[in-house]
Amino acid sequence: MTLTFREELKDLQAYKPGKPIDDVKKEYGIEKVVKLASNENPLGSSPKAIEAVKKAAENLAIYPDGNATMLKNALAKKTGLKTTQILPSSGSDEMIDIIAKTFINKNDEVIMADLTFPRYITTTKMMGGKPVIVPLKNWTYDLEGMKKAITDKTKLIWLCNPNNPTGTMFTEDELLDFLKSVPNNIVVVYDEAYNEYVTRKDYPKNSIKFLKDYSNLIILRTFSKIYGLAALRIGYALASEEIIHNMNKIRGPFNVNKLAQAAAIAALEDEDFIKKTYELNKQGKEYLYKEFKNLGLEYAPSETNHIFVNVKRDANEVFIELQKRGMIIRPIKDTWVRITIGTPEQNELLIKLLKEVI
Ligand SMILES: Cc1ncc(COP(=O)(O)O)c(C=O)c1O
Repeated sequence: MTLTFREELKDLQAYKPGKPIDDVKKEYGIEKVVKLASNENPLGSSPKAIEAVKKAAENLAIYPDGNATMLKNALAKKTGLKTTQILPSSGSDEMIDIIAKTFINKNDEVIMADLTFPRYITTTKMMGGKPVIVPLKNWTYDLEGMKKAITDKTKLIWLCNPNNPTGTMFTEDELLDFLKSVPNNIVVVYDEAYNEYVTRKDYPKNSIKFLKDYSNLIILRTFSKIYGLAALRIGYALASEEIIHNMNKIRGPFNVNKLAQAAAIAALEDEDFIKKTYELNKQGKEYLYKEFKNLGLEYAPSETNHIFVNVKRDANEVFIELQKRGMIIRPIKDTWVRITIGTPEQNELLIKLLKEVI
């Protein structure tokens, strides 16, 4: 007798993370390695969050608060929503998983873009859903194309704004028009992992207001990006009470650990840290734009902490050559790579090494 695995697994591959810094150091025998590959915060984490983690770590023998009550209270204060409309998770990654498990039945059609965040397609396939892929236009979500892809079999639509990996955005008017056009039995997941970095005024800065009119909308946020807490794995969803009630049945009993809860509460209060990160990112983006232009490299306009750039050489080759020199970036497709905006020193080093490599 042999083991059998679920049919859906046949078409899935395990997530391939970027190489850890220590592996690259060992492999190439180099001491200093800079990672601009995973859209992390180059300033680290809020000092207040670090303090909160130290305090919370004094007792690790007890389970965390499975309801994350204090964190929900803090998020309710920040968002103006009821705590029953908020669900914390172990990163947005887990929430994407929970959403797929809550809604997607076998053979349901699920609309998503290409290129976009890869967990949308993986979790869709995991549930036996049928991905309906709408290519980007000018590296930007084609919402009109997505509308046209809706059929009576459509169950859910994944949106990422601004988009990872291209960094591009769609406007508040476009989002509203889209929400109006989607039948309300179709779930719209709106992942705004990078919303705090957006500089454009026509971006839907306050997407929460749409929850009132669109009971099919789920907003996703994370503490991994501007809040600098990627290592702790924490994010949250905002939605109707009915959606949160049902998703709450799916999650693990203690899905958000104690250190993550404590850090997130402290991080929410540290507005200075957010401002500092935003400014650093904005300046870094302007610097990199200028240098890319000098190098004759085309890039997509970014509203995030990463830039999608055409290095005019095979992306994997550039990735390997940079890695040998102590710089980790992310190859995406063809000659396009994604580079996280770092500190001024990191950005300067990136440009110096890019000049060597290309
Ligand atoms: C668009 C988007 N959604 C979700 C995630 C996952 O974030 P988390 O670290 O909270 O799991 C990422 C991480 O890169 C992302 O870019």
